[in-house]
Amino acid sequence: MKKIIYLAILFPFMLSAQQSDVTVSKAINRIAFGSCSQQNLTGNQLWSEINATNPDLWIWLGDNVYSDGIDMKQRRKDYDLQKSHPDYKLLLKQTEVIGIWDDHDFGVNDGGKEYPMKDESKEELFRFLDVPDDHPARARKGAYQSYTYASKQGAVKIILLDARYFRDSLKWNNPGTAEKEALVNENGDVLGEVQWKWFKEQLSEEGVDLFILGTGIQVIPTQHRWEKWSNFPTARKRLMEVISSANAPLVFISGDRHLSEVSRVEIEDYPYPVWEFTSSSLNSPSGLKEDLNKYRVGDKIHVPNFASMEIDWKTDKPVLQLRYYGRNNTELGQHSIQFE
Ligand SMILES: [Fe+2]
Repeated sequence: MKKIIYLAILFPFMLSAQQSDVTVSKAINRIAFGSCSQQNLTGNQLWSEINATNPDLWIWLGDNVYSDGIDMKQRRKDYDLQKSHPDYKLLLKQTEVIGIWDDHDFGVNDGGKEYPMKDESKEELFRFLDVPDDHPARARKGAYQSYTYASKQGAVKIILLDARYFRDSLKWNNPGTAEKEALVNENGDVLGEVQWKWFKEQLSEEGVDLFILGTGIQVIPTQHRWEKWSNFPTARKRLMEVISSANAPLVFISGDRHLSEVSRVEIEDYPYPVWEFTSSSLNSPSGLKEDLNKYRVGDKIHVPNFASMEIDWKTDKPVLQLRYYGRNNTELGQHSIQFE
């Protein structure tokens, strides 16, 4: 132990944590994900459709319940209602479930670090997700987490970024009206320094074949008037610089929008295009028709949906088959992603 302390003082970089919070020897071939589920609409959930796709993993991308406010008893009640749905219970039995929050389960609409109950709220999120007591994310501030699933076929690493706990405030044009529009916070931050450092280290893990980066709000789209990483241009630029250090292909997955779409962008110093798969909402679509996104590939989806990503490990670089499904497992969209 003495030797480790000595090395840590002399060479702190040597002991940087590149391993995931959780590393599991397990083949992951199909990942389902989604966001924005009104827990009160118990007869209107997609859990049986999600179970029918037999995923190896389900990822919550925020608004896992709608529970704004500072009443933690209510928060727990809302999570418990979500968790008590028989088809969700079946999912929990059959499938590993992980997740991150967005604003309405964090506790305040479009909120950030100013929310006073963020630690208490994190406890409720982790209780809902059954995050074990010895999980490293329990011992730090914020809800960010990472998971590596490795098998003979390849290793997929999932990094769930917390875009709420440390996020600087956001100002709005026409707040409280139907025309409200997020303003740019030029130098505002999203992740906070501790999470940035952790994130960069996580991306440097050796032996990863595919990184999946989860964040509630969208990363690539820049034109819509709602919350998005581009409301914080300095932080978004930093995000793109950090991901360009990844030595394997990566995709973002996101929620929040109450519509689903695929976005694609090329960035400097990174050999692959960057993709983002947005899936929202599980049961409360926006009905929004006008929504500009110059990075969109294919059509946007406006009905309740979830996403299912199949990873084909047969080639040198993994090939992804992304499908969006709606009620009765109706296929709503399909994309094949290759990393050349
Ligand atoms: Fe939502």
